[in-house]
Amino acid sequence: MKTPSIKELLEKDSPLSQIRVQGWVKTRRDLKSQSFVEVNDGSCRKNLQLVIDNSQGKFDSVLPRLVNGAALSAQGDMVESPAAGQKYELAVKSLEIYGDCPQENYPIQKKKTSDEFLRTVAHLRPRTNKYAAMLRVRSELSFAIHKYFKDNGFFYVHTPIITASDCEGAGQMFNVTTFDTAKPSQFPLNQDGSTDFSKDLFGKKTFLTVSGQLEGETMALALGKIYTFGPTFRAENSNTYRHAAEFWMIEPEMAFYDLYDDMDLAEDFVKKITDHVMKNCAQDLELFSKFLDKDLPSTLQNITQNSYERLSYTDAVSILEKENSRFENKVSWGVDLGSEHERFLTENYFKKPVIMYNKPKNSAAFYMKLNDDGKTVRGMDLLVPRIGELIGGSERENRLEVLEKKMEDFKMNKEAYWWYLDLRRFGSVPHAGFGLGFERMMMLITGISNIRDVCSYPRVPGYAEF
Ligand code: 4AD
Ligand code: MG
Repeated sequence: MKTPSIKELLEKDSPLSQIRVQGWVKTRRDLKSQSFVEVNDGSCRKNLQLVIDNSQGKFDSVLPRLVNGAALSAQGDMVESPAAGQKYELAVKSLEIYGDCPQENYPIQKKKTSDEFLRTVAHLRPRTNKYAAMLRVRSELSFAIHKYFKDNGFFYVHTPIITASDCEGAGQMFNVTTFDTAKPSQFPLNQDGSTDFSKDLFGKKTFLTVSGQLEGETMALALGKIYTFGPTFRAENSNTYRHAAEFWMIEPEMAFYDLYDDMDLAEDFVKKITDHVMKNCAQDLELFSKFLDKDLPSTLQNITQNSYERLSYTDAVSILEKENSRFENKVSWGVDLGSEHERFLTENYFKKPVIMYNKPKNSAAFYMKLNDDGKTVRGMDLLVPRIGELIGGSERENRLEVLEKKMEDFKMNKEAYWWYLDLRRFGSVPHAGFGLGFERMMMLITGISNIRDVCSYPRVPGYAEF
């Protein structure tokens, strides 16, 4: 017997007969000898209504078990529904219960529950309308990203998750070791008393990657245009609405692109993937704008319709200095801008996405190309309302001597990056790229205000349950 998904069923031009539906009960309503049971199978936001005629008493034993969360299989014929707001319903001929759902201790109740509570039952929260919608959008957004790059001639490459190099140089890396950390006294030691990692599995100290960029560059300098899409890890102790210790990052890298090409790509990319999700997840986005963020439609319009402001860091500082009274951290040329400043620029001042470029070299990563002024580098951040920094990127330093000097200034071990420097020794070209934080993009598209609620299982300071 055919078991189409509820999504497929509701999209049919005419009702099907002799079908089976499988899913979880949302609600049940009884009217004399008839029962109406709303079933959801996760394929879409909409439920299918089962109509159960119990005038013969045939369903006496199963009916009381049809409660919120119970899993069932129902067979019957689809019919046009007389009820408003639904196209079809299922006239049930037979019913089977796969799994009962005792209400006394089922955590997912119909009444509104808090996001904080639902995080403690993250294994069951996909059963709520909100988190099911979030997960479907996550899936569609991933697809939109792959589609965008495929349509634009990029190759999808895979970069290592375990790495010996530190791309961002911010000291935020998780160690990877086979040494038994419960017994540090047994670590092999060097003569100077430090741990001897040459005895570890990889023969050197290794970490979870903070970014696939450096390895991505090696492939862009052979294939032209590449992107990565993978998990990244940051051991920073930032307990904020927009930081996670484990998040997914999308990093395109393009040979022969300069900073301006990079900014143009970032803008086009964010617009196109947002547009794709708006077209393909309309039902789910409607749920978010109805129950979560009534301004979501205008936010999405802002993202897809406006042209993004291009603003140099120096000009941003001129704007922000005049507003210093409103900021916790005061702005002057050279300081690293924080989320309060980023959000002021995009939300209050320009009221649209802003791409800020040419940052001071001291607060930027080692690989960003030095400008002729000797003070700034060709880095850029895309700032959006509600989130602040959504993308960070740059044109890369492609001159060997300048890069080596930079690495010395940053006190980096140049020998360890011999392969990265080789790119500048052999057939070096101008190139650029950026990183988009996938979870931040999810927050932007759904209106969900905490990064913990756009991850299936958030990893944040103090929390790694499940
Ligand atoms: O600005 P970031 O640190 O840039 C890089 O890692 C570069 N290697 C990217 C590149 O040029 N290929 O990180 C890029 C983006 C940020 O703009 C932000 O959206 C996201 O990654 N991000 C985080 N998202 C969630 N939690 C965190 N702790 C994040 N740190 C960065
Ligand atoms: Mg950044």
